[in-house]
Amino acid sequence: MPESILEGSRFVRACLRKPVDRTPVWFLRQAGRYMQEYREVRKHHTLVEICKQPELAAEVTITAAEKLGVDAAIIFADLLLPLEPMGLPFEFQAGEGPVVHHPVRTAEDVKALRTDRAAELGYVARAIEKVAAHFHERLGIIGFCGAPFTLASYMIEGGGSRNYVHTKQMMYGDPIAWGGLLDKLVTVLTEYCRLQVQAGADVIQIFDSWVGALSLTDYREYAFEASKRLVRAVQALGVPVIYFGVETAGLLGAMAETGADVMGLDWRQPLDEGWRAVGHTRAVQGNLDPITLFAPLEVLERRVKEILRAAGGRPGHIFNLGHGIVPGTPVENVQAVVKMVREFRLEGAARG
Ligand code: CP3
Repeated sequence: MPESILEGSRFVRACLRKPVDRTPVWFLRQAGRYMQEYREVRKHHTLVEICKQPELAAEVTITAAEKLGVDAAIIFADLLLPLEPMGLPFEFQAGEGPVVHHPVRTAEDVKALRTDRAAELGYVARAIEKVAAHFHERLGIIGFCGAPFTLASYMIEGGGSRNYVHTKQMMYGDPIAWGGLLDKLVTVLTEYCRLQVQAGADVIQIFDSWVGALSLTDYREYAFEASKRLVRAVQALGVPVIYFGVETAGLLGAMAETGADVMGLDWRQPLDEGWRAVGHTRAVQGNLDPITLFAPLEVLERRVKEILRAAGGRPGHIFNLGHGIVPGTPVENVQAVVKMVREFRLEGAARG
């Protein structure tokens, strides 16, 4: 069949650096507490309940994507869900974020982790099926998982962390435990992504949210191989991979060597510099500061246009934030950004 600009969603085409009619746009954490509809659902259900009830997870995913008019819907789930079938129960405590009750600290703890129960995450796949049935080809559907380093950090610290002392202690001091933990994560996450792709996810985003805590040498020595194996295993399922991290300016070149199709860029570096660092053979996603969504519209518009100009109309830019939308963000400003991206035309660009 001849290649057509209509084939595949605008979002998936951009992931593959194919020409698009305009820059696709979506937002990290587009379904969340800043949105009234989500807060309503949360009044009656915990976060984990929403994730585990495909009907609810699909509804939350679809509502956010439609309200914003974005080009992709990220499945409503959480990074930590795979911990449970691995044998590490956790909960979200109000105002505190996630808490893992028995953190992984020793080689024995790693040995006890299970890798044979990823099928228990089938509820995420069921939710993806519902979202896919709703949108068909109209929107890109994004499945996701954590990267081995970032998930390992939650398992070892027992929650969020400022300095990653326990994580780095294991990483530097106990290669057997560290290597074993990353191996187990790659096994489970690959299986989890397989379920999501079979259910209809068009693209998988791998969140290495906290990898910016590593120096370049430590990233290369302790985190890169496992990330690369996961990226390649997911690509072998037949979908493009977005590899995302924060405060990664010094790591981008190395992260791109995983072979990910799309690299997430945060806002601390201009988009064109980040793109140069990962190379123009990759697509990029980003990179508005999520707090700019609190700025007056004219400031917001200036920043949005700067990003689009920095992308220069080159195929393979997906407009997004550099990190997730935070609670309190005015929804109308998020909608305004969608409109700005939709209406943007590069000066001097050829019109089709
Ligand atoms: O719309 C979407 O983006 C999809 C849903 C989504 C959630 N979590 C739901 C959620 C996604 C993609 C995630 C990923 C996730 N979860 C990450 C990686 C993304 C990133 O920000 O880098 C991380 C680190 C987590 C772990 C996690 N989940 C933390 C640290 C917290 C607590 C922080 C907070 O904001 O309270 C969560 C809770 C969570 N996951 C919320 C949502 C919408 C918060 C709202 C709630 O409690 O209902």
